Amino acid sequence: MAAKSRSKTISLLALFIGILCLYFPVKTTAAVAKSDAAADLLYLTLVWPGTFCYSGQCCMPTTAEAYPPANDFLIEEMKTMDQTGKIIQDCNETCRFSINVGPMPSLIPDLYSTWCNLTCPCNNGLPNWKNTWCTYGQCSQLNQTDFFIAVFNMTTKANLLNVFQDNNIVPSSSASYKLKEINTALANNNLSAHVECATKTDGASLLSKISFCISADGLSFINCPFDIKQTCNSELWFYPFNINQLDTECDYDFVGSGGLIKMPTLKHLAM
Ligand SMILES: *[C@@H]1O[C@H](CO)[C@@H](O)[C@H](O)[C@H]1NC(C)=O
Ligand SMILES: *[C@@H]1O[C@H](CO)[C@@H](O)[C@H](O)[C@H]1NC(C)=O
Ligand SMILES: *[C@@H]1O[C@H](CO)[C@@H](O)[C@H](O)[C@H]1NC(C)=O
Ligand SMILES: *[C@@H]1O[C@H](CO)[C@@H](O)[C@H](O)[C@H]1NC(C)=O
Ligand SMILES: *[C@@H]1O[C@H](CO)[C@@H](O)[C@H](O)[C@H]1NC(C)=O
Repeated sequence: MAAKSRSKTISLLALFIGILCLYFPVKTTAAVAKSDAAADLLYLTLVWPGTFCYSGQCCMPTTAEAYPPANDFLIEEMKTMDQTGKIIQDCNETCRFSINVGPMPSLIPDLYSTWCNLTCPCNNGLPNWKNTWCTYGQCSQLNQTDFFIAVFNMTTKANLLNVFQDNNIVPSSSASYKLKEINTALANNNLSAHVECATKTDGASLLSKISFCISADGLSFINCPFDIKQTCNSELWFYPFNINQLDTECDYDFVGSGGLIKMPTLKHLAM
């Protein structure tokens, strides 16, 4: 009960911070000429939490009690790129990010469960959303709302776990898969994607990230006009994810015991 209301407090706090953001525009130092920066496409990257947690420490989001992380591919970011795969970023030295504009509040449950950030220390994901919008989103032709809607709509459209399941590719710690099977499953669903792997100390490949090229208007998948470095062996593992893998050490208790100073967000938001 108490924990529940604490997590409510955290959610409200996140909202409050969102409101604060509206009034404190952020300056970024990197200056890329916005005049000649033209983003031709969007590049959505989804990450498999089973591999993320297997490969290193992963932490329970601070909002997990109300909105647990989905047992699914999670959103990492959506970048802006040109035709050659060059990243276009930092197009506006002023950045306003607000969780309150338009339909953004209705996206909050999705943000917390599928665009959570499992890095440590435990965080509420907001620094990553904000960073994605400020660094890349501002170089897109979309406004903040449409940018975020595009991220979710295209993630839903990709429906990766289902695509894999239909092709008998399911998370497993006992069976490995051929990279070719993975690529075929994606191609069968008209998904032009880049598959990335993490490498275990014994050299084995773990399915780590899948990225999609998306039209600049955020509405459709397109064939990626560039390749990326191959990081997967011809055989790879797709380990299961279980929420119990997340480290809860820094979860919740700091609110009661030390006030809000340890909340990572305030500091990050001031960047
Ligand atoms: C830069 O961002 C600010 C704040 O969101 C906005 O008012 C301004 O119009 C933007 N400038 C350009 C050139 O897009
Ligand atoms: C978590 O957020 C940090 C910065 O806010 C970002 O660099 C990192 O890529 C994110 N990780 C994931 C897995 O989303
Ligand atoms: C964002 O752009 C869409 C049209 O592309 C418009 O309908 C919507 O009102 C805009 N939202 C905001 C918050 O400016
Ligand atoms: C995004 O998905 C929602 C819900 O399925 C839908 O109502 C909306 O039209 C979609 N928007 C875009 C821009 O694709
Ligand atoms: C893929 O695209 C082809 C050609 O446009 C179409 O016939 C097929 O139905 C699509 N498959 C899926 C799974 O959407």
